[in-house]
Amino acid sequence: MKKLIVGNWKMNGEPECSSKPTKFDEIYPSHARDHLDIVLCPPSLLIPGMMELCRNANIQLGSQNCHYLDKGAYTGEISAGMLKNFNVKFVILGHSERRAMGETSEEVSLKAIKVSEEDLTPIVCVGENLEIRNAGQAHKFVSEQIEKSIATLNKDFIIAYEPIWAIGTGVTASIDDIRNMHIEIRKIIGPDIKILYGGSVNIKNAADILKVENVNGVLVGGASLDMVDFAFIAKAAG
Ligand code: PGA
Repeated sequence: MKKLIVGNWKMNGEPECSSKPTKFDEIYPSHARDHLDIVLCPPSLLIPGMMELCRNANIQLGSQNCHYLDKGAYTGEISAGMLKNFNVKFVILGHSERRAMGETSEEVSLKAIKVSEEDLTPIVCVGENLEIRNAGQAHKFVSEQIEKSIATLNKDFIIAYEPIWAIGTGVTASIDDIRNMHIEIRKIIGPDIKILYGGSVNIKNAADILKVENVNGVLVGGASLDMVDFAFIAKAAG
């Protein structure tokens, strides 16, 4: 299975960040990475300005969210169809930072269906908090979250396992924790769906994480803002 390296810029990105795909391509040229897919998910405003540069650099564009309807009176929202018009191919859904703002698995499921209908690929994020992990409930919690978040989805999708306590904290899940959780997730979604790990992935730990069985790529937050780091993380996929 081709590995997938996804950068989530979150709410970071000055206009000059639009040129970052070119910089990435200089460090890790596209002809050397046929075995990988690279995706950047900038703030939506930057997407139009990055389309051409991403195409030239053989990097795909992703969005960090979208609505589950096509259009209408939903101030501040953006639809999957609109993103598709700007060559977006992936949409991150149900990131824990959005779930913390009140997004439910039921909403994530509706969004995932809409994203699939537009022939884009949903990257559905799941992950437990520290309390749940310490209570020994992490596998059960993540399984239920997956089942609810992809309820009736039968098309192509990706799962990103992102333990909340590892996001932006500099604390990565241990290799054993990652391996065990990815085995559990694999049992639920079958052999063909990619499972990414996310949570404080950096140039030091990427190679070890990417070697773990059933880790088909990584979702990188902070370290994806620096193209040198992001390129080295991608190179670590071998
Ligand atoms: P991080 O974020 O790499 O900064 O921990 C990961 C994510 O939130 O997707």
